[in-house]
Amino acid sequence: MKIIHTVSALNLALQPVRCKGDSIGFVPTMGALHQGHATLIRQSIAENDCTVVSLFVNPTQFNNSEDLRLYPRTPEEDQQMMRELGVNLLFVPSVEEVYPEPDRRVFDFGMLDKVMEGRFRPGHFNGVAQVVSRLFSFVQPDRAYFGEKDFQQLAIVREMTYRLQIPVEIVGVPIVREPSGLAMSSRNQRLTPQERVHASQIYHVLNNSRGRRGMYAPAALAEQVVDEINKVPGLHVEYYEIVDGYTLQPLSTWEESDYPVGCVAVYCGAVRLIDNISYK
Ligand code: PAF
Repeated sequence: MKIIHTVSALNLALQPVRCKGDSIGFVPTMGALHQGHATLIRQSIAENDCTVVSLFVNPTQFNNSEDLRLYPRTPEEDQQMMRELGVNLLFVPSVEEVYPEPDRRVFDFGMLDKVMEGRFRPGHFNGVAQVVSRLFSFVQPDRAYFGEKDFQQLAIVREMTYRLQIPVEIVGVPIVREPSGLAMSSRNQRLTPQERVHASQIYHVLNNSRGRRGMYAPAALAEQVVDEINKVPGLHVEYYEIVDGYTLQPLSTWEESDYPVGCVAVYCGAVRLIDNISYK
């Protein structure tokens, strides 16, 4: 595995790959890798000739400087995991390399970023689009892999590539869960053992609610989910919305969508977790 820090070295390393016409798979990450990332990386390796992983904690997508400071960083363990998985190129740029000048672009995602994460984390998706579009222009991948845990991010990245006409296939990869049901996330590292037990209830509440889909309207079912999660010690729901999986707009009736998805953000102590479940 080659470790590369600059865009010019990345271009040099990718030149022979591009000349041969080999396919490039790309997995952008902010590090603190877990089995969710390993699944994205394995899929990229299976589907492409060369896999590039980036490790860059992007400051422009944090709307809270404390969250950026506390974001887990485990570079040695990350490198070890990527070597074992068989990653070809690891791109670890500095902030100056990615943003030689401040990125002042403001993206238009229509209604996609007016709900859920977009409402509670203003500017977050604009920062994600800034960094992902830059990384795409550096790597020029054929396929890029994103986890479905960040459901809204995946929709935003698809919309961005469509609007900017970037020739890359966006591949969404299902959520990987711990045996307890807790969705894998780098932020889980900040949970105490007790908090982990409580956080695992999020999935169980979401999953149980699927069986009640026929009995309640989406908003009524969403209210029940909020109450049930809030009853778990240490958990506090920021939002739970049942939305159309394509437009991300809240549903009044189940008939409005053939892909209803429930998306949640929950504070477990000081750690903010997100998860989602399909009601299809
Ligand atoms: O999902 C993440 O880890 C980040 O938002 C991403 C896509 C790597 C952009 O910084």
